[in-house]
Amino acid sequence: MKADWIIENLNLATMDAGRPGAYGAVHDAALAVADGKIAWLGARSELPAIEAAEMVDGRNGWLTPGLVDCHTHLVYAGDRAGEFDQRCRGLSYEEIARAGGGIQRTVAATRAASEAELLRGAEARLERLRREGVTCVEIKSGYGLELDAELRMLRVARALGERCPVTVRTTLLAAHAVPPEYAARPDDYITLVCEQILPAALDDGLVDAVDVFCEHIAFSPSQCERVFETATRAGLRVKAHAEQLSYQGAARLAARYAALSADHLEYLPESDIALLCEHGVVAVLLPGAWYFLRETRLPPVAAMRAAALPMAVATDLNPGSSPMASLLLAMNQACVLFGLCPEEALAGATRNAARALGLQHAKGVLRPGCDADLVLWDIDHPAELSYAVNLNRPAAVWQEGVHVRFA
Ligand code: NIG
Ligand code: FE
Repeated sequence: MKADWIIENLNLATMDAGRPGAYGAVHDAALAVADGKIAWLGARSELPAIEAAEMVDGRNGWLTPGLVDCHTHLVYAGDRAGEFDQRCRGLSYEEIARAGGGIQRTVAATRAASEAELLRGAEARLERLRREGVTCVEIKSGYGLELDAELRMLRVARALGERCPVTVRTTLLAAHAVPPEYAARPDDYITLVCEQILPAALDDGLVDAVDVFCEHIAFSPSQCERVFETATRAGLRVKAHAEQLSYQGAARLAARYAALSADHLEYLPESDIALLCEHGVVAVLLPGAWYFLRETRLPPVAAMRAAALPMAVATDLNPGSSPMASLLLAMNQACVLFGLCPEEALAGATRNAARALGLQHAKGVLRPGCDADLVLWDIDHPAELSYAVNLNRPAAVWQEGVHVRFA
């Protein structure tokens, strides 16, 4: 057997559900990489005779899968610090949205921005995530809400994947809010999404999945269903911002369309959990938005756990409800605010996040055959990743086998 490199003298948190024990851990381990994939892993004492070009010392740290941020809106222009000030003075997110602020404010700024400007801002935010060990990120459109601006956002997302050592999955979220020019006719806007924006994004190879915001300040379940129907017929998987501010039945709808994920879920009734399990829908928890909006209603985590519903954790990085470029902080919040344990939080940012993107066969676990997206941490135990805020930085990151260097 031949390998490009082998790392040894470390522990592995494989996060492979097929392995016994917490974190699927392998102690005093070794891992071999060939052609960007994991070629072998196991106890160092069992390392077979492998001809390797390079040996790397893991310095007794822990190696995890590259982190996967499976829900972001990181391409946008402008900021909403003024609205944050208003919220601190007592206005709610919904009040601001109804007064024409919120998402609409970012839409105006994003429409006015050039592709180069959008790219510059997004690349800087993405770098914040990457410096924490994120090697795969989902990026949504949804601040264009018209053909050209939605495509521009998606092109920027694709460009990020080409320029940066990170895997980017793009999600079309044209059904994020009703744009001002369609204010009185949301159904006509949905027609535009289904008949023009989605087909154009697909033709240009810009879309990996389709998302909707199902909420009383956004779109109704039947409007979301029209988008799901169109997407599904075009061969695309769907996801939904579901039950974030109120119960809409969006998670049930997502389940009927075998969605990749249903995201937020603060107002999900326990009785809808079985349906998500049955249809293989991942529950994506976004504690950053919960924190910034001072939400009090908690997603039903204990019932999700009892039902063995896969839970992912993501940043929801966006300028309004979650201006937070830290997946490690989201993991900490998932523990402190939502009651996950550190192992669940790490599974949420690796294995289950990969599944929420349909990448469970390539990303999110350390297993032979999977991409060698790897993060080495100078820690004594993987629980430390969720335990501390701003104390952990990767000692090294590899994306598809290649060492990522930061300026
Ligand atoms: O995930 N819920 C809708 N969309 C975003 C918020 C976007 C914004 O406020 O700009 C979210 O929370
Ligand atoms: Fe979101």
